[in-house]
Amino acid sequence: MKVDELRSKYIEFFKSKDHAQIQGKSLLPDNDPTVLFTTAGMHPLVPYLLGEAHPAGKRLTDYQKCIRTGDIDAVGDPSHLTFFEMLGNWSLGDYFKEKAIALSFEFLTDSKWLGIPLEKIGVTVFEGDETAPRDEESAAVWKKLGIPADRISYRPREDNWWGPAGATGPCGPDTEMFIDMGKEPCGPACAPGCSCGKWLEIWNDVFMQYNKTAEGRYEPLARKCVDTGMGIERTVTILNGKKSVYETEVFAPIIQAVERAGGYGYGANPEKDASVRIICDHIRASAFILGDPKAVSPSNIGAGYVLRRLIRRAVRHGRKLGISGAMLSPIAQVIIAQMSGAYPELTENASRILGELDREEEKFLETLQKGEHEFEKLLPNLLKDPRKVMSGRLAFKLYDTYGFPIELTEELARERGMTVNRPEFEEAFRKHQELSRSGSGQLFKGGLADQGEMSVKYHTATHLLHKALRIVLGDRVAQKGSNITAERMRFDFSHDAPMTEGEIRRVQDIVNEQIQRDLAVTMTVMTLEEAKTSGAIALFGEKYEAQVKVYRIGDFSQEVCGGPQVERTGSLGVFRIQKEQSSSAGVRRIRAVLE
Ligand code: SER
Repeated sequence: MKVDELRSKYIEFFKSKDHAQIQGKSLLPDNDPTVLFTTAGMHPLVPYLLGEAHPAGKRLTDYQKCIRTGDIDAVGDPSHLTFFEMLGNWSLGDYFKEKAIALSFEFLTDSKWLGIPLEKIGVTVFEGDETAPRDEESAAVWKKLGIPADRISYRPREDNWWGPAGATGPCGPDTEMFIDMGKEPCGPACAPGCSCGKWLEIWNDVFMQYNKTAEGRYEPLARKCVDTGMGIERTVTILNGKKSVYETEVFAPIIQAVERAGGYGYGANPEKDASVRIICDHIRASAFILGDPKAVSPSNIGAGYVLRRLIRRAVRHGRKLGISGAMLSPIAQVIIAQMSGAYPELTENASRILGELDREEEKFLETLQKGEHEFEKLLPNLLKDPRKVMSGRLAFKLYDTYGFPIELTEELARERGMTVNRPEFEEAFRKHQELSRSGSGQLFKGGLADQGEMSVKYHTATHLLHKALRIVLGDRVAQKGSNITAERMRFDFSHDAPMTEGEIRRVQDIVNEQIQRDLAVTMTVMTLEEAKTSGAIALFGEKYEAQVKVYRIGDFSQEVCGGPQVERTGSLGVFRIQKEQSSSAGVRRIRAVLE
């Protein structure tokens, strides 16, 4: 199964079922100032899922280019991608569970479409909890269609519930479809949804049937919707029985182009293979960002900063393969040729894509070597430091003089077993901002530390964590204390049982989602009463002035707090829970870091 075939079969199938094909939208969202890129097929459709009428009708289908930036540093392993395509179909108040599942089933199993044997398919459905019942309705539909009970797995909220995108709004249970990869079950409990590798997910049908209110109630929606999503690259990998997307035709021609540029044969050396994958993914994402009708250019702000990071990281990994000159354009040309059937904007904007890549590459190549040289020169001294911490001043010099994005310097340091003193870097950056009187707070918005102290970031992370815990564990959870240093945060909260691994993961994911959404943090002064009625979290037992500051993080959280807070959540980095343990009777403690 090839990508083009999967894409066109999907669209053709849903058109044959009275769905209107709509155009995928820009990678740079129109109506959502809180994120840098379109992250899912449903993203441009949020207003319609919330009740607005869509001009094309109630049944829609499309393919959508997406970028997720949360995992840039994980790219290089066999599975992570920044750019991907998502297929989707939607019912806006038209069909619901029975029909949505029947459509998914027909597309998956009918020999006219994907023709996957019935016995290879397993599904998961929502197991139910105190807020919404077990989704027996979906399970019954699957059974009626011929999926035996032992391949219908009931899973908890962290696996089979989608949304709301923010703190409130439409959401509901989902049913996910998995392919049996033929491996032996990992144990008696191994079932669809198990992460051992036997079952791999290809499709997600979300049933938006509730509206989550500010009070945390789940009210039935008057107009129920269906939102489904199938990642193209992932599905093609699984359908072709491949272990990695980089083994498929999605990347084969791009890998060959990198091989031509570097004279290196993919597969010979694990470290170099990782560099090849980074180059392939990053140039693909960069070509799509530059080829978008709403093109951005490499810069130090927002999406432009992400683009700069992608390009410069690709260039540096090119050097690790021994490529000394320009390499981006020839590789991008391969991508343009490969993808422009589905995305004609790539050909239309080809000269812009290639020109911008050339320019940015040239700019960085001028200083890359000198910067690396400077780093190498200082390395023996740096390595003498028993803590293996590289000074923030040096990181800032690499940024300011040689154009190394801080994340690139951190990667360079990691490769030598070191970390970078990030607070010191931020301090140097802040001073530089003050000196240059730019002071606009605009630099690096969404990409990088621009607000000074690490502790300010942890302060904002505390709000995100507090809210995420209430979402996952319930609104009874209340903050009992917190302690922040430049290196880590501790957070104590009322809860009378240890958190499960799933709950911890879900909380961490929610926080990272909000970081990735790059939400704006805003402050309003109001009376405590007003704060409480507006739904802001205030700490029980805390003394407040008559007028309080309420910090809002996008649509996600509202909390009475003295501040300071970062301006946007995108600057926080990646949030990781290191430990969850008992603090005292009925109080748990989480230790977490921003990386
Ligand atoms: N919104 C869901 C997802 O992203 C289904 O489209 O998986």
